Amino acid sequence: MVKTNLKAVWERVYATKGEAGVSWYQAEPRCSFELIESLAPSSGRIIDVGGGASVLVDRLLDLPFAKVAVLDISETALAKAQSRLGDRAGRVDWITADVTEIQDIGTFDVWHDRAVFHFLTDESDRKLYTELAARSLPPGGFLIIACFAVDGPTRCSDLDVRRYDKASLSAELGDAFEFVTESRETHMTPWNAPQSFFYGVFRRR
Ligand SMILES: C[S@@+](CC[C@H](N)C(=O)[O-])C[C@H]1O[C@@H](n2cnc3c(N)ncnc32)[C@H](O)[C@@H]1O
Repeated sequence: MVKTNLKAVWERVYATKGEAGVSWYQAEPRCSFELIESLAPSSGRIIDVGGGASVLVDRLLDLPFAKVAVLDISETALAKAQSRLGDRAGRVDWITADVTEIQDIGTFDVWHDRAVFHFLTDESDRKLYTELAARSLPPGGFLIIACFAVDGPTRCSDLDVRRYDKASLSAELGDAFEFVTESRETHMTPWNAPQSFFYGVFRRR
């Protein structure tokens, strides 16, 4: 898909659906939060890549992190999160960008992505994503990728996705990252459809 169209797709999703009306909505992003809390240094730098309007950023602001950033291709999604956070939004670095196009986002101790990498169906985009993650994490930094598991959905928001397990995700990330741990989650959509997610945790070598 042409990149300008991709941005338009996501802007339309967020402009036409309420925060809690999207399949990926979580009132409490428990699995993501617990992984970040257990891995990050107490005054660490955290980025939620493709964070959209997720409340994960609200929860991260409750911890004493030095820096919390949210990157998303959709400014409408980020505006929703900003409006919900009110004054607290000023404590977040908001980055409107395509993760496969932006060159420099600074340095982070933890990179978290729930349901973005699985949309990258072009190998060249996955390479650009992985290179940016490798540039943005120092050795010892953590990469958390939550994506549809091999028994998860094949499409989302009318877009094709790729599904992953430990072996396939490790292979995509290559030598710059070593596998640390994994977890599974059955996400229930707001209309009670189960979706199988795989969470892979990797350490920057
Ligand atoms: C399925 S939603 C997940 C949102 C959020 N992570 C959550 O768990 O609630 C995917 C998000 O990725 C964003 N996105 C999709 N492709 C992207 C890209 N190439 N670069 C940055 N963000 C992207 C979308 O705008 C959307 O907010």
